[in-house]
Amino acid sequence: MQLIVTKNPTDLAKQAADFIAKRIKEVLKKKDRFTIALSGGSTPKALHELLAKSPYREQIPWAQLHVFWGDERYVPIDDEQSNAGMAYDTLLGHVYTPEDQIHVWRTELEPEAAAADYDKILHEYFGDTGPTFDLVLLGMGDDGHTLSLFPGTEVVHEQTAWTKAYFLTQQNMYRLTLTAPVVNRASCVAFLVAGPKKAEPLKEVLEGEYNPDKYPSQEIKPTEGELIWMVDEKAASLLAK
Ligand code: 6PG
Repeated sequence: MQLIVTKNPTDLAKQAADFIAKRIKEVLKKKDRFTIALSGGSTPKALHELLAKSPYREQIPWAQLHVFWGDERYVPIDDEQSNAGMAYDTLLGHVYTPEDQIHVWRTELEPEAAAADYDKILHEYFGDTGPTFDLVLLGMGDDGHTLSLFPGTEVVHEQTAWTKAYFLTQQNMYRLTLTAPVVNRASCVAFLVAGPKKAEPLKEVLEGEYNPDKYPSQEIKPTEGELIWMVDEKAASLLAK
């Protein structure tokens, strides 16, 4: 595991953008497509906005990207809570990646059907052995959740299914999510975490006892890939090392 501590959220976005551009370049030397799973929440917005501008806009071969999402809120894409909607507003609407390479969770379907649809998309794209994303971007909530793996939910322990839909009582909404084993097959997983509210959960996730029911982010441990935590100084403030 690699821990990168940045000065502030602006610096975090900059370092993440540099890292992503470099990663894409390296992977595309060896093959002709780059698969990325985006995250939702607010932290990625600054990163997206940066990637949509010079020099990243010109540097990254957007037409070779194949875009997925680690999780989605069960709302229409034009709802302000939609992860896909946010990514279109801040990034995908400003660069050119062919629409058939952008794989959104279809929230116009019933929740279970939307999860089954995404499972089908992943099988068709990656084959039956399982997805191997080149990069999965993740965030971590104040409660230690990541993806839509929330504390105390059964989905945290899911080992078989690739995707899940479930009703998240504390938010009174359905969530659609990839499961931890799918993300753990990725070549690289990068968490982006900023702000003082993340300091305590970050300490527990990285330095506390293993307790994924309380801190689901602990379930993210790529089997062969790299794990990178990019965090700002405020989020890192309680870490021992
Ligand atoms: C979502 C997410 C979620 C997010 C964290 C962190 O849809 O809510 O994908 O797992 O990454 O909640 O969100 P912030 O960046 O807003 O803190």
